[in-house]
Amino acid sequence: MNAPIVSFNHVGKTFDVDGFTLEAIREFNLDIAEGEFVAIVGSSGCGKSTLLRLLVGLDTQFRGQISVDGKAVTGIGGERGIVFQEHRLFPWLSVADNIGLGLVNEPLSAAQKHRRIHDFIELVGLGDFARAYPHQLSGGMAQRVAIARGLVASPRILLLDEPFGALDALTHQQMQDELLAIRARAKITTVLVTHDVEEAIFLADRVVVMEPRPGRIKQVVDIALPHPRQRSSFDFHQLREELLHELTSDDHYQPPVPVQVRDLPLSFIAY
Ligand SMILES: Nc1ncnc2c1ncn2[C@@H]1O[C@H](COP(=O)(O)OP(=O)(O)O)[C@@H](O)[C@H]1O
Ligand SMILES: [Mg+2]
Repeated sequence: MNAPIVSFNHVGKTFDVDGFTLEAIREFNLDIAEGEFVAIVGSSGCGKSTLLRLLVGLDTQFRGQISVDGKAVTGIGGERGIVFQEHRLFPWLSVADNIGLGLVNEPLSAAQKHRRIHDFIELVGLGDFARAYPHQLSGGMAQRVAIARGLVASPRILLLDEPFGALDALTHQQMQDELLAIRARAKITTVLVTHDVEEAIFLADRVVVMEPRPGRIKQVVDIALPHPRQRSSFDFHQLREELLHELTSDDHYQPPVPVQVRDLPLSFIAY
């Protein structure tokens, strides 16, 4: 492949928690090509958010190297935009002003910013809502505002941390379709963190399966299925089974204990 746009080399991360050392990431190595869509999947606590925070430059205390375009990451930068699970919109700012926050560090005139903000409002399909406030939006619309804010500085890399996790199933699927449509228009390298295997297979070119304690790569799987992908297809189903098996076959994995009817209080059963 050409020189990667993102490169993790021997990355390790520990936290000090009450005098103990918690190893959150061990020996993480990954190259991401320009324009590629990589999904990182793994159970809760396996270090996915930590990895994104390191890549975006919010935390610079780690072992190894992370580089973007061959340059070491030493802090946040406009070429990396991030979208969090909770949309983190400011309730007292309009949609346009929330998106404008993504431009505070950009050397643009007010008129250029205005034009850019409105281009991105259109891109995420919220043309009629520029002056609306977050409380007037549905969960899916608010998350689209957050995506527009992540994209408005025209980053070359979009980082998404479980961006659709809090949405209902239907909105969730619509947002996945929209993310692919946005990517088709703005060819942007994308790193998505998710615990949802199906989401990873639906969207990504490559899926990195993590295992926990300490967080490390278990397997990297190429997803060669053509777009638009059919969740009900045989190939999709097979990949899903394979990845679920990878995720759940670790030694520490505890399957959820099914609740027995007899364990429930009587009042529950009567109801
Ligand atoms: N700021 C922090 N201080 C201490 N421990 C942390 C901190 N951030 C994350 N951790 C720990 O690091 C591990 C990985 O966390 P995280 O990256 O949030 O996992 P994930 O996003 O995959 O659920 C967890 O055990 C978590 O408790
Ligand atoms: Mg997380």
